[in-house]
Amino acid sequence: MEKQPLKVLLAAPRGFCAGVDRAIEIVEKALEKYGAPVYVRHEIVHNETVVSRLREMGAVFVEELDEAPDDRPIIFSAHGVPKSVPSEAQRRNMIWLDATCPLVSKVHIETERHHNQGLEVLLIGHAGHPEVVGTLGQLPEGAITLIETEEDAETFVPRDSSRLAYATQTTLSVDDTASIVEILKRRFPEIRLPHKDDICYATTNRQDAVKAIAEKSDALIVVGSQTSSNSKRLVEVGERHGCRFSVLTDNAEQLDWDALAAARPETVGLTAGASAPESLVQGIITALKERYDVTVEEVTTARENVTFKLPRALAS
Ligand code: F3S
Repeated sequence: MEKQPLKVLLAAPRGFCAGVDRAIEIVEKALEKYGAPVYVRHEIVHNETVVSRLREMGAVFVEELDEAPDDRPIIFSAHGVPKSVPSEAQRRNMIWLDATCPLVSKVHIETERHHNQGLEVLLIGHAGHPEVVGTLGQLPEGAITLIETEEDAETFVPRDSSRLAYATQTTLSVDDTASIVEILKRRFPEIRLPHKDDICYATTNRQDAVKAIAEKSDALIVVGSQTSSNSKRLVEVGERHGCRFSVLTDNAEQLDWDALAAARPETVGLTAGASAPESLVQGIITALKERYDVTVEEVTTARENVTFKLPRALAS
């Protein structure tokens, strides 16, 4: 049977960001330097394929420090950790390596600085996400107020409206966050803004690239895990920018191919969250080629050349 033609608009940039590259390299280098097992607190990045590969190499993933022994190195994930975690590792004389993305560390430093200047700090983000847990944990409990929604921004009651500052999670929706910030600025004109946007370059660029392809696509496939905040935001951006069928999938095997076929797509947009490897994107293209007569067009909206240094203990 003749295959239906299908145009694939491949978003660029997509997939791994500099923080994810660095975090993965930290685990690989730690395994080289210290041998297996090396412990990792929380999934190093939110992607099952990445985690499984590192597990096979000898990484052991745990949720809390007390699940790791004193005498093996422990790595903290890219999302960052509350201050109590490195303190505890220090107390136990563990070798610990911090894979927190430097752009998350920047938010940590910023919130602490605001606090030390006597400002009340708001954090725009999603409750329970490890990055938010880590940022809240930079200050004493209760010192930071989490703002999740526009309603939270409308109803928040400050101690002193002239002594306020906010920070944000790095992987939020740029547009949703802008609406929340508008409310805060309207209600509290003196609120201190971040020096440079806390939503990171990778999140912003991946959302912009989706905006550029979504309107022209009958379906949008986002490769990424359900636990990945920035990947979920890409699906929402696709839906909001006119793509009636936007889905998140771990890989080609997990995709609901019948649902895709039912959408009768002539053009499919394809992207990947910041923690999803390019091999999974290529896997989707291969699977599309088995079903359709595919032509691929890459749509580039930004070029990235960001890299981050490894911790000194691992730099060669
Ligand atoms: Fe860092 Fe942004 Fe990636 S905060 S880990 S560069 S998604």
